[in-house]
Amino acid sequence: MKTKILPKEDIEKQIKYMTQIKAENDRFATENGFRRGAFVMTFGCQQNEADSEKIAGMAEAMGYEILSSPEKAYLIVVNTCAIREHAELKALSTIGQYKHIKQKNPELVIAVCGCMVTQEHRVNDIKFKYPYVDFVFSTAAIHKLPELLSQKIKRGKRLYCTDEEYSVAEGLPIRRESNYRAWVSIMYGCNNFCTYCIVPYVRGRERSRRKEEIIAEVRELVAQGYKDITLLGQNVNSYGKDMGFDYDFADLLDELAHIEGDYILHFMTSHPKDATKKLVDVIANNKNVAKQFHLPLQSGSDRILKAMNRHYQLDRYMDIVEYMKAKVPDIVITTDIIVGFPGETEEDFEGTLEALRKVRYDMIYSFIYSPRKGTPAAEIEDQIPSAVQSERFNRLLALQNEIAYEINQKHLGETIRVLCDGPSKNNPDVMCGRTEGNKIVLFDGSSELTGQYVNIKINKCETFALVGEIV
Ligand code: SAH
Ligand code: SF4
Ligand code: F3S
Repeated sequence: MKTKILPKEDIEKQIKYMTQIKAENDRFATENGFRRGAFVMTFGCQQNEADSEKIAGMAEAMGYEILSSPEKAYLIVVNTCAIREHAELKALSTIGQYKHIKQKNPELVIAVCGCMVTQEHRVNDIKFKYPYVDFVFSTAAIHKLPELLSQKIKRGKRLYCTDEEYSVAEGLPIRRESNYRAWVSIMYGCNNFCTYCIVPYVRGRERSRRKEEIIAEVRELVAQGYKDITLLGQNVNSYGKDMGFDYDFADLLDELAHIEGDYILHFMTSHPKDATKKLVDVIANNKNVAKQFHLPLQSGSDRILKAMNRHYQLDRYMDIVEYMKAKVPDIVITTDIIVGFPGETEEDFEGTLEALRKVRYDMIYSFIYSPRKGTPAAEIEDQIPSAVQSERFNRLLALQNEIAYEINQKHLGETIRVLCDGPSKNNPDVMCGRTEGNKIVLFDGSSELTGQYVNIKINKCETFALVGEIV
């Protein structure tokens, strides 16, 4: 199937709606002395963060002031996630809280979009249990926000836009959260159907953006002074396959890394079954590519990997890790692990612990398996009791904390370049930043350093952070 690039006319139609709504919002601002505000609440992964930057971009183009909290909003868009049950419950409870805001301001329009409401049963939940939600739109319909909002305002009826065809939409306005870190989606969707995962059902099949558009976007970001750019896709290693390009992700990364400037490229996520040595070589050979690799293992047991439909075995995974370590000394390696997948025995779980000991990850993101309606794994009889899952989860964390603490000690006394993100949560005088490998670094400094590179001499190494001083 060939990827559908959304025709220019479809975007132009949305721009027309944006202009109309803007005229009305401008009129309101002149009359009332303040602008209607919009608030975008985002759950889930970076892909959703990137979508929300488009939603905020469209809202701004429609003449809304973008707010950092929902209380005074005239438009609230909740961008939801469905990856685990917890993510859905959080989104639903947040939507529940907005009821009170609507009681105070009946003019408020509440919209819900994203992965959770790209499932029929959740659309029905919204329809019947959240009557104050004005419209719902699926992940494929993000670009239709202006049209839906316009219809809602004109006709007042509730709307459900859930059957939009998946495509690639170019040319939407983007309102970026940061002026030094940026997301760039290079492709959308997933074809892998890992048996536990909802993503292929709520994000559609893989489709790539044209390389010309990606290169132009990254070039522009670098020109604007962005220092850290993350290329996004559910499986970036499949880039271009849907377009029949004779040009793969390694080629794209290499070409992007040759753009002149002082910036670092990250990417996520790479599926181990398609991770190539060619890609590792691109990391090794380019100073502008982060010496970091996120390679989700999920489980260290071949039996479980097979049940997960992951299409690789542990030894093939270890091959690519060995190659990375040999080619890129000091590479930061991170992973995702699922604990308590149906049928996971103590021996399978031991395999995962053993894999952690072997690879020695700098960091892991670990999750307790959560059954997702409509996925094959949810139908497996042998679901693991939650007490067993939690016990294994804690053992996994304890081991990883030990490993991360040991690994981090090697940074003691080193001077590392860090991109400063501003004051830390707990202390306004302590700045927080990240290394090229995304390790957290804390140091005394002023918030004027936000968005700048600083050289930090490390004098303390903890499990989750390095502590140092500016040199
Ligand atoms: N496309 C990426 C990540 C997708 S979601 C990839 O393939 O790696 C991020 C992580 O969430 C996954 O790597 C997996 O570890 C976890 N995850 C996905 N579905 C899950 C589920 N049903 N229960 C628990 N964790 C899950
Ligand atoms: Fe989900 Fe697997 Fe696709 Fe990742 S590769 S999004 S885990 S189905
Ligand atoms: Fe969640 Fe959708 Fe991302 S399910 S993890 S927001 S792709």
